[in-house]
Amino acid sequence: MNEEDRKKPEGSGLSRRDFMKIGGMTLAVPMVASPKVLRVGGEDVEVYGPEKTMVTLNVNGKLMRAELEPRVTLLDALRESFDLTGSKRVCDRATCGACTVWLDEKPVYACGMLAIDAQGHKITTIEGISTPENMDAVQKAFWENDAQQCGFCTPGFVMATKAFVEKNPHATLEDARKGLSGNLCRCGTYVGIHSALRQLTGMKEA
Ligand code: FES
Ligand code: FES
Repeated sequence: MNEEDRKKPEGSGLSRRDFMKIGGMTLAVPMVASPKVLRVGGEDVEVYGPEKTMVTLNVNGKLMRAELEPRVTLLDALRESFDLTGSKRVCDRATCGACTVWLDEKPVYACGMLAIDAQGHKITTIEGISTPENMDAVQKAFWENDAQQCGFCTPGFVMATKAFVEKNPHATLEDARKGLSGNLCRCGTYVGIHSALRQLTGMKEA
């Protein structure tokens, strides 16, 4: 028995060196998998994961692709894979609104949905409504009315407010309180936010 044979794990027929080589090759295989098809209730259902799969998102009018595990949220995909960090991760459990983006013009919590489920929809983030040189009217109203302190809630508030004002151009303060109740500001800048809303809608002083 030569030196190499002596290193073979018992019963494997492989030397330690062979084993290491195969291990290296296995790790080099891409971990992106096609969906499996399961028969459920008489229908074929595509099942993804737990391996990464190719996800294509339409964000701010551009198609963006990344290999993601199906468990990845839309918020994490935007921030970690597409470098769009305007949407903030605060509660990460769909309660504060800091991560608000639009899905087909409708505000949603990006931390509360999976990136894989956002495929085929039009996603708009805070980066998609303006440029640093050309602020959106809602951003300008927030700025002019001192409607932020730490700013963590602000991008989500701007996205929710813009959608609300476009739908309710003559809203009352009471309407706005209800309509924006899904967004929270821990710094308590509601007086400034209400002033911004008054500027945007012409609503009367409360
Ligand atoms: S971070 Fe998504 S709702 Fe709070
Ligand atoms: S400005 Fe700090 S949470 Fe709203």
